Amino acid sequence: MSEMKTDAFWMPFTPNRSFKAAPRIVERAEGIYLMTKDGRQVIDATAGLWCSNAGHCRSEIADAIHQQAKKLDYSSIFNFGHELSFEYSERLVKHTPDGLNRVFFGNSGSEAVESALKIALQYQRARGKGSRTMFIGREKGYHGVNFGGISVGGIAPNYQSFGQPVKSNHMRHTLDIERNAFSRGLPEHGVELAEDLERLVAFHGADQIAAVIVEPFSGAGGVVLPPKGYLKRIREICDQHDLLLIFDEVISGWGRTGSAFASIEWDVTPDMMTSAKGITNATVPLGAVFVQDHIYNTVMNAAPEGMVEFFHGYTYSAHPVACAAGMATLDIYEREGLLTRAAGDIGKHWENALHSLADLDNVIDIRNYGLVGAIELRAPAELKGKFGAKASAAAWDAGVMARGIGDALCMSPPLIIEEHEIDTIVDKLRGVIKSMA
Ligand SMILES: Cc1ncc(COP(=O)(O)O)c(C=O)c1O
Repeated sequence: MSEMKTDAFWMPFTPNRSFKAAPRIVERAEGIYLMTKDGRQVIDATAGLWCSNAGHCRSEIADAIHQQAKKLDYSSIFNFGHELSFEYSERLVKHTPDGLNRVFFGNSGSEAVESALKIALQYQRARGKGSRTMFIGREKGYHGVNFGGISVGGIAPNYQSFGQPVKSNHMRHTLDIERNAFSRGLPEHGVELAEDLERLVAFHGADQIAAVIVEPFSGAGGVVLPPKGYLKRIREICDQHDLLLIFDEVISGWGRTGSAFASIEWDVTPDMMTSAKGITNATVPLGAVFVQDHIYNTVMNAAPEGMVEFFHGYTYSAHPVACAAGMATLDIYEREGLLTRAAGDIGKHWENALHSLADLDNVIDIRNYGLVGAIELRAPAELKGKFGAKASAAAWDAGVMARGIGDALCMSPPLIIEEHEIDTIVDKLRGVIKSMA
């Protein structure tokens, strides 16, 4: 490692100076395993950043990327098209909830969010409600790092240096360890927190609000699951006040909860839904917004014939190589039943295995759903809010990649994981958590 220069690369969301003092370098990956530069095998219990859902280095995706790059590497997507983008879109919307039949592409979750917010504004204008320009997000929400996303997001350090340039306000988050600790699946308590949306509507006036945006469960906020009935109530309040509801399914999509999307799993249909990450099994960057027909039609019909209806798009929207990667990813998801696998025995095993750690004194909450989960640790006073990072570093040394968020260890393993591999993760974490008591 001594020959590797680390000066030039400014790493994202990383304490650069401490990382560069002791780099943790991943060299190869296969299935659920990462191979490090120093010759260790580590279990990827986070599927990268909640994204390598079918496991790493799937050869049929690699082959599809290679073939597409040789056939059509790129062609303008403004005013010209390529067939694969249409074919892929038709195939994608077979998996989305009812009515979400239109798809707009970007290159990341952040771009999907920006696109969704702009579609919401365009739609409100198109139907003559141009005063509706603000958004309601939620505390602990993460919607990427662009200016719209940080404005509607609710993780303080992500916006404190940059402000909240897009007009937004935030509902209360739903994490309630006091009442819901050690819930298996959706927590019992907290449906009443949805009424916080009513408070904000009364405060700002419905005629100012374009849309409400939430993750069905908060991922980067620390795996915060919605209380039973909460999302349905949010939907009802949106309908009552004629507000659009956007679900950010960048993490919760593509099988994480046991259905293709959390909106299907929890039977609440949004007006728009963002996606990225698992859409291509994280091989080629791709983001997408799925949009209800009525929104698309309203925007189309408001523009004169022959005019651009929506002044928005990216050079790489529907990039051919990303579409090819996405098609091959769908082949795997469909053939291997990965989009619903977490709803079966493996999800139950995950739940039981995680909750087997409840006997450890310094574990104060375990929460799980499908193939996602978090273990909340009791942090010493001086490390409160930062203990997860310390636990994550210890887990890495023990051979497990788990994400530290606040005082929790958060995990979302590849959906191909087997029971014995879950047991190995939990065995290793038992040692790590005990050593931190
Ligand atoms: C819910 C959610 N939305 C948006 C994003 C941003 O995605 P990206 O990092 O691809 O821009 C993320 C990333 O973790 C996310 O979890």
